[in-house]
Amino acid sequence: MRVDIVTIFPAFFDVLDVSLIGKARDRGILELNVHDLRDWTHDRHRTVDDTPYGGGAGMVMKPEPWGEVLDEILTDDAVLIVPSPAGERFSQPLARELAEEQHLVFACGRYEGIDQRVVDYYSGRVRVRLVSLGDYVLNGGEVAAMAVIEAVSRLIPGVVGNPDSLVEESHEGDGLLEYPSYTKPAFWRDLAVPEILLSGNHAAIAAWRHDQQLERTRAHRPDLLAE
Ligand code: ADE
Repeated sequence: MRVDIVTIFPAFFDVLDVSLIGKARDRGILELNVHDLRDWTHDRHRTVDDTPYGGGAGMVMKPEPWGEVLDEILTDDAVLIVPSPAGERFSQPLARELAEEQHLVFACGRYEGIDQRVVDYYSGRVRVRLVSLGDYVLNGGEVAAMAVIEAVSRLIPGVVGNPDSLVEESHEGDGLLEYPSYTKPAFWRDLAVPEILLSGNHAAIAAWRHDQQLERTRAHRPDLLAE
């Protein structure tokens, strides 16, 4: 998969050199390119924003540099992802959908967002998705893009070493939250690992884990049970 990110803060993405994503890049499973939007400006101050038409607080990102950079990097089969609190909620099903794609391009806006004509224009050329990380406001799209990239790239075959570890996770399979996990030692600060996990009785362990999933889901995400 090829991923391009356009941002005025390329340094945000330096961490994509490490961990599983870094390894996937080294092995050629993932091609990741970060572009500084200011490289597509032509004035001395490398201006990317201006005051909003109609008034109001904050600044809006100008369409011209976005047009120049996107004309250069968008391919016909790309999906343009615009992180925005006004977008559809990001989810595991959307991550699975995006993991099937060949080319993702992230347009990370700052300030009050990007001039709407950028989305309108490119909607006529490629598939465009406005994606929100959740019902809260970040300072810009970078952190959201990073979350989407991590959630999507770990679903690409070969990125996560043991594919079994993708199956029994929260938001996968039965849609329940994951059960709690324990490792050695069996006692830590007077806290014991639940005895059932030491029993060797696989059916009983599976039943206990399912109960834990239901209990957690009821406590933290009752909306998932309603679904
Ligand atoms: N940019 C600002 N807030 C955001 C959010 N909640 N999700 C995605 N992008 C954003």
